[in-house]
Amino acid sequence: MTCFPRLSRRLGFSTERSYEVDDEVAGIHNVKTYSYKELSIATNDFTFANKIGEGGFGSVYKGRLKNGKIAAIKVLSAESRQGVGEFLTEINVISEIEHENLVKLYGCCVEGNHRILVYNYLENNSLAQTLLGGGHSSLHFSWRARSRIAIGVARGLAFLHEEVRPHIVHRDIKASNILLDKDLNPKISDFGLAKLIPSHMTHVSTRVAGTIGYLAPEYAIRGQLTRKADIYSFGVLLVEIVSGRCNTNTRLPIEEQYILERTWELYERRELVALVDTSLNGDFDAEQACRFLKIGLLCTQDTPKLRPSMSIVVQMLTGQISVDNRKIMKPGLISDFMDLKVRGSPKTKPHSKISSYTASSSSDTIDNSTFSSETTTYATTFTTTYDKSADVSM
Ligand SMILES: Nc1ncnc2c1ncn2[C@@H]1O[C@H](COP(=O)(O)OP(=O)(O)OP(=O)(O)O)[C@@H](O)[C@H]1O
Ligand SMILES: [Mg+2]
Repeated sequence: MTCFPRLSRRLGFSTERSYEVDDEVAGIHNVKTYSYKELSIATNDFTFANKIGEGGFGSVYKGRLKNGKIAAIKVLSAESRQGVGEFLTEINVISEIEHENLVKLYGCCVEGNHRILVYNYLENNSLAQTLLGGGHSSLHFSWRARSRIAIGVARGLAFLHEEVRPHIVHRDIKASNILLDKDLNPKISDFGLAKLIPSHMTHVSTRVAGTIGYLAPEYAIRGQLTRKADIYSFGVLLVEIVSGRCNTNTRLPIEEQYILERTWELYERRELVALVDTSLNGDFDAEQACRFLKIGLLCTQDTPKLRPSMSIVVQMLTGQISVDNRKIMKPGLISDFMDLKVRGSPKTKPHSKISSYTASSSSDTIDNSTFSSETTTYATTFTTTYDKSADVSM
C-alpha cells in the first residue's frame, strides 16, 4: 500500500515544505510509510525490553504492526538523518528488490527528524549471535544447514552484484548481517543502507568503513570499492561458516588468531580438513567442506581481479564448476596493518607493507585510523569511492 498522498500531512511540515515533499515523493509508489505513532505503539514506545540489537546505524526493536505482522524496526541514529527526498528515493530502490536471500523491507517512517526502517523480522537472529556466538545459542548447525546458508548468502550477493541494476555493492558482508529465519534460511540484511548514509558518515561510522577481519585490503587501505571487496568479505564469512569460529580470535595462539592466515597455512600443508568445526563431531562431507574452504581462499586472494564473481562462486559451491584445477594465490591480509596499529605506531615499529602504503600515498585516502581488537570494529578516516572503472575490469 502506498501512503504518499497523505505523507506531507503526517510529516507535519509547513504547507510550503509539504509541497516540496509531495513533489519529491510524487514518482514513488512502492514504499509503505508508517507514522511514528504506529511504530511507537508497535514497539511499546521503543521500550528497552523490545530492543533486539544495536549496530552502527542505531537501535533495532521488535514490534507488532497494526496488521499483526512482527517486524524489526531500525531507528537510524541522528548522524544518519538526511533529506526526505533522498531518503525516499533510496528506499524506493531497495524496496523493489526482492530475493529469497535478502531481508524484506516493509517500509519506512520519515516524520520530522525520525528516519526509521521497518523490516521483516527474522526469528533466529544473526550468524554472529548463533553460529559464532560462542555456545550461547541452542541452535545446532549441521553440515547440511551450513552448506545451505553458504549457498543462500552467495545467491543473494550474486543477485545484488549481477542482477540488480545498478549493481549494489553491500560493503559490509559479515556474520551479524546474515540473519536466519525459523528454518535457518539465510537473509542478507543492510544491503541498501550503504546508499542511505550521507557521505560525511564515512568518517564516523564503523559500518560504512567496514568491519575489521572482513575488509578487503584494497578497500581498507586505498578506499577502492568494487564488488570484489564484497567477494573478499564473503570469502571470510564462508571460512567462518565452515570452521564455526570468528575471523579474529586473540585468545588463540598467535599463529592461529587470524582465520585467513590459518586457512592458508593449512591449505599449503594439505590439511584443510583440520579447520572444519569440531562441534560437528566429524559428521560432515569432507570433500565439500574442503571445497568450500578453497572457495573462501579464492575469494580472498590479494589481487581483486583473481577473485571469482559471485555467480561463479555459486556454481563452485554447488559443484557445477570444479575448484580443483584453479590456482589459488595467497590471501590478501590486513593483519599486518592491524598489527601495526595495535602494537605500536609506525614510528616505533616500522613495517614494510604499511610503510610502503603510507609512504607512497600522501594523496591516498587514509588520514587516520583506529580499531579495537576487542570489538573488532574498524573505523578509518577515508573517503570511500565506488570505483566503477575498476569494477568493469574486474
Ligand atoms: N530483520 C531483523 N530481524 C531480526 N533481528 C534483526 C533484524 N535486523 C537486525 N536484527 C538484530 O539487530 C542486531 C543489530 O542489527 P544492525 O544491523 O543494526 O547492527 P549490526 O548488523 O550488528 O552491525 P552493523 O550496524 O555494523 O550492520 C542484529 O545483529 C540482529 O541481531
Ligand atoms: Mg546489520
